[in-house]
Amino acid sequence: MLKGNFPIEKFKGIETPFYYYDLNVLRQTLATINEQTEQHDFHVHFAMKANVNPEVLRVIKEAGLGADCVSGGEVQAAIDAGISASKIVFAGVGKADWEIELGLKNDIFCFNVESIPELQVIDELAKQNNKTANVALRINPNVSANTHHYITTGLNENKFGINMSELESVIGQFDGLKNVKLIGLHFHIGSQITDMTSFQALCIRVNEIQELFIAQQIKIEHINVGGGLGINYEHPNHFPTPDFESYFKVFKNHLTLQPNQTLHFELGRAVVGQCGTLISKVLYVKEGTSKKFAILDAGFTDLIRPALYQAYHRIENLNSTGAEQVYDVVGPICESSDTFAKDYSMNATQRGDLIALRSAGAYGEIMASQYNLRKLPKAYTSDQLI
Ligand code: LLP
Repeated sequence: MLKGNFPIEKFKGIETPFYYYDLNVLRQTLATINEQTEQHDFHVHFAMKANVNPEVLRVIKEAGLGADCVSGGEVQAAIDAGISASKIVFAGVGKADWEIELGLKNDIFCFNVESIPELQVIDELAKQNNKTANVALRINPNVSANTHHYITTGLNENKFGINMSELESVIGQFDGLKNVKLIGLHFHIGSQITDMTSFQALCIRVNEIQELFIAQQIKIEHINVGGGLGINYEHPNHFPTPDFESYFKVFKNHLTLQPNQTLHFELGRAVVGQCGTLISKVLYVKEGTSKKFAILDAGFTDLIRPALYQAYHRIENLNSTGAEQVYDVVGPICESSDTFAKDYSMNATQRGDLIALRSAGAYGEIMASQYNLRKLPKAYTSDQLI
């Protein structure tokens, strides 16, 4: 079985489970992004919700990406990481007053606004603080992302954004609101999207929506098409970097930008997904009546994606080259959903083996919890374990 490149000698003595970030994979990914975006003059804001590990953020900041935040905590973490406020966008259906004020105080680039009441509150708070808030309207484009229903966001039935039918009345609001400035339109259709035709459909819808604004002579400076580019969970060794070239090309070829309009992206998973691995140890191999269980010291508290979204993560035994056998790979938590994979073939496994759960850099460490009073996993990088 092909395995990732891990410094297992350096893992000795480190308490498991822990996250390991290969910063070279991250740097390579960022270099590819920059190569593509410079050609097209596109702007990428890293979706902080995917990962806020300070070492990871440092590398992302060095590469010059901005930040896409969905809470005051993330806005603060982006600023603490040294990301310029002029590159911070702030989205979310339920921004609290203190979060809006934090964004105003720091003069962030843009608030992605999801409803009329929110627009009114931003205007009111901006007025109190003698500021003008730049806002983009998050429009629900009603485009299907063909992905898991938990991570589909751009359909009318989802809670996100302003529906097309409300658009006229939202535009009408701006006359009366003096402390908000409409600078952009924002869209996001979902996550882990590998079918480029979904993004193509988004482009076509954005072009249609732009026509409405052009007809009313409303100038929009920025278009933000959100994130969503998927990664290859099955073959992280073969595809450590997502296909950014095809992705950006879709927008270049199908989205009609108006003169001087800039295009923005909010990529999370595609930036950090493949650089992270959850390293765990086998506690027991248990023979069931019809199955063999490899019981790990990592559970859904460390990586919740399989339990929550039935997500697949490639699993590699880093110590064994023995003939492959079939296991249910499970965690120690007292719930049946604490299962990483069923009927999974991996090299013959025994107590003490190190197990790598791959492609865990996005929505892994950040979604960890302390359920069962378990410790939060620590994290190490390839730079630290040289
Ligand atoms: N922009 C907005 C408005 C979003 O809601 C999201 C993700 C992104 C950008 C970044 O999407 P990405 O490029 O990472 O696909 N926890 C789930 C994923 C939830 C995604 C939520 N929104 C998972 O583990 O699969």
